[in-house]
Amino acid sequence: QTVVVAVDGPSGSGKSTVSKRLAAKLDARYLDTGAMYRAATWAVLQADAQLTDPDGIYKIVSAASLEIVTDPQAPSISVDGVNVDGPIRGQEVTKAVSAVAAVPAVRQLLVDLQRKIIAEAGRIVVEGRDIGTVVAPDADLKVYLTASEHARAARRSAEHAADHAATAADLRRRDHLDSTRKTDPLKQAADAVVLDSTELGIDEVVAELLRLLDK
Ligand code: CDP
Repeated sequence: QTVVVAVDGPSGSGKSTVSKRLAAKLDARYLDTGAMYRAATWAVLQADAQLTDPDGIYKIVSAASLEIVTDPQAPSISVDGVNVDGPIRGQEVTKAVSAVAAVPAVRQLLVDLQRKIIAEAGRIVVEGRDIGTVVAPDADLKVYLTASEHARAARRSAEHAADHAATAADLRRRDHLDSTRKTDPLKQAADAVVLDSTELGIDEVVAELLRLLDK
């Protein structure tokens, strides 16, 4: 039986942890679309392209081949045969990713690839910014996961052993860019279930989603 779950929300809201755990419980695949934008950004930085040149960015991204492993226990991504799981979480990529993700032609390319992966998987949990609104508007369940800015920055700075103030500033900058860009901005789908992980623990969020899928 096919099941598609769309999980959207801002940085540090707990999307990745929730999505992986839910996928494992459902015996489904897991797709991190943020990792795809990050891998595309890694390719752009590697090629030394100007972040202000959308055509140049698109050329590099369209020439790169992304290989994505959708196992929720060991998700992974490579670009032209090079595993980039480590570098895509680094500061350089994090700084540049919103610019690359704002290029409409890049989004079209990655959205098409995401739809293909979803169709092939059948059962899958997909996380991102525009999954319920653009990539999979017919998803069986749409979730919009939020948390207070303070909680989100605290999680991110713990994960990266980074400074809270600097992390909070980065989140605020990316939230702004991601929600104000012209193409497919971060937005709550009208029919999404909204959950706030400031108060709910990860296990409680997963339990609630399993309950919603059951009915
Ligand atoms: O690190 P964090 O969880 O905040 O972000 P991510 O999910 O890894 O996504 C990194 C960036 O990719 C976001 O800041 C967006 O600019 C972009 N993105 C997007 O535009 N659309 C998606 N479906 C997923 C990510």
